[in-house]
Amino acid sequence: MVKKIKIIIAGGAGFVGSSLALYLNKKINNSQVYIVDNLIRKGSELNLSRIENNNIEFIRADLSNPQSFKSLPKADIFIDAASNPSILAGINSSTVDLINNNLITTLHSLEWCAENQSKLIFLSSNRIYPFDRLNNINFIEKDTRFSWLESLKIKGLSKNGISEELPIEGIRSFYGASKLASENFIKEYGYFKNLNFVINRFGIIGGPWQMGKFDQGILAYWIAAYIYNFPLKYIGYGGSGKQVRDILHVNDVCNLIFLQIMNWEKINFNTYNIGGGYNNSISLFELNSFIQEEIGIKKNIGKDLNKRDADIPIYYTDNSKIKEVIDWHPKFSLRETIHDTSKWVYDNKELLSIIFLT
Ligand SMILES: NC(=O)c1ccc[n+]([C@@H]2O[C@H](COP(=O)([O-])OP(=O)(O)OC[C@H]3O[C@@H](n4cnc5c(N)ncnc54)[C@H](O)[C@@H]3O)[C@@H](O)[C@H]2O)c1
Repeated sequence: MVKKIKIIIAGGAGFVGSSLALYLNKKINNSQVYIVDNLIRKGSELNLSRIENNNIEFIRADLSNPQSFKSLPKADIFIDAASNPSILAGINSSTVDLINNNLITTLHSLEWCAENQSKLIFLSSNRIYPFDRLNNINFIEKDTRFSWLESLKIKGLSKNGISEELPIEGIRSFYGASKLASENFIKEYGYFKNLNFVINRFGIIGGPWQMGKFDQGILAYWIAAYIYNFPLKYIGYGGSGKQVRDILHVNDVCNLIFLQIMNWEKINFNTYNIGGGYNNSISLFELNSFIQEEIGIKKNIGKDLNKRDADIPIYYTDNSKIKEVIDWHPKFSLRETIHDTSKWVYDNKELLSIIFLT
C-alpha cells in the first residue's frame, strides 16, 4: 500500500490556507489534508463550506495555545499559514494579540514540527524588509505610478525588483517584526533541532475567497467597493494613488507550494522572495482603471493626505532565486487575478455582503 502524505495547514480556513488545502488535496493523489484554524478572521467560517465534501478534515483550535497541538495527527508537512496578516495590526490595537497569533503560534508549531519530524513551510511576508530602508530608495513620479530610478546601485534591488539580498536592519511594523522573529526562530530550529523548512516571503496575494478589509486584502476590498458601492480613498503620497505593489494570484501560491513539496531537497533550509514581479505590478491609480474596465463601473476615489503607518512607495518582487531552483514563476496575469476576484464577488454577492458591508 502507498503511504499517504499527511499535510497539516495551520490557518487552513483562511484565504491562502483554504485555497492550498483544496489544491494539494486534488493535486497529490495519496494525500490526507487537515486544516487547523481558530476562525478569528472574519469570513474564514465561509471558507469552510468550500472545504466540505473534499475529504479534508477541519480541526478548530487556537494554535497560540500549546495544548491545541495535542489534537493534531502526526504529519509529513506542516504549512504555517496562520496569522493576523495586517500590517497595521498591533499599532493601534493590542500588540500582544498580534504576537500571540503570529510569533507564538509559530513557536509552538516549531516545537511540534521538531518533535514530530514534520517539514515546515512558512508563509512569511515581504514586510520583514524595513519600510525606512524602502522609503529611502530614490524614485520618480510618472503619470500613473512611482518608479525607482534606473541608475540606482543598491544591494538587493535590480530592474526585476527586490531580492533576498536587501539588508534587513531597520523598523518594519509589528506585523513585519513578528514574521522576521518567526523566520529567525525557524532557522535556529533548523540548526539546533534538525528542522527541515522553507520560508517564502510573499508580496501581495490576491484572488477569490480573500475576505478583504480596509487594512488587509486590498484587491478583494477594492473590487468589493465597486460592486457594493462603498467609498475608497488614496491614502498618503499627496492622494495620488501612485504607490506600486505586485499582486500574485493565489493559484500561483498553491502551485509554488506543490512544487516545493515535490522538490524538497532543492529548497530545504532556504528563504525565497515570492511575488507577482514587475509584470504584475500596479499602482492604486492604475488598479482603479483596471477594475473599471473589468466590471464596467466608474468610481470616484477620495483622497486622504495623511500617510498610512508603515507605508512604502514601491515594492515588487525579484523572483530570480526561486525561478533558478525549481523554475517557478507567476503564471496568472494581473488581469486574470482581477477577473477571477471580481467574478467571485459577483457570484457570491449576497453571501459576501456580511463581510464587505458590515
Ligand atoms: N494575503 C496576503 O496578501 C499575504 C501576503 C504575504 C504573506 N501572507 C501570509 O500568508 C499567510 C496566510 O494569509 P491569508 O491571507 O490567508 O490570511 P487569512 O487571515 O485569510 O488567514 C489566516 C488564518 O489564520 C487563522 N488564525 C489566526 N490566528 C490563529 C491562531 N492563533 N490559531 C489558529 N488559527 C489562527 C485565521 O482565523 C485565518 O483563518 C499569513 O501567514 C500571512 O502573513 C499573506
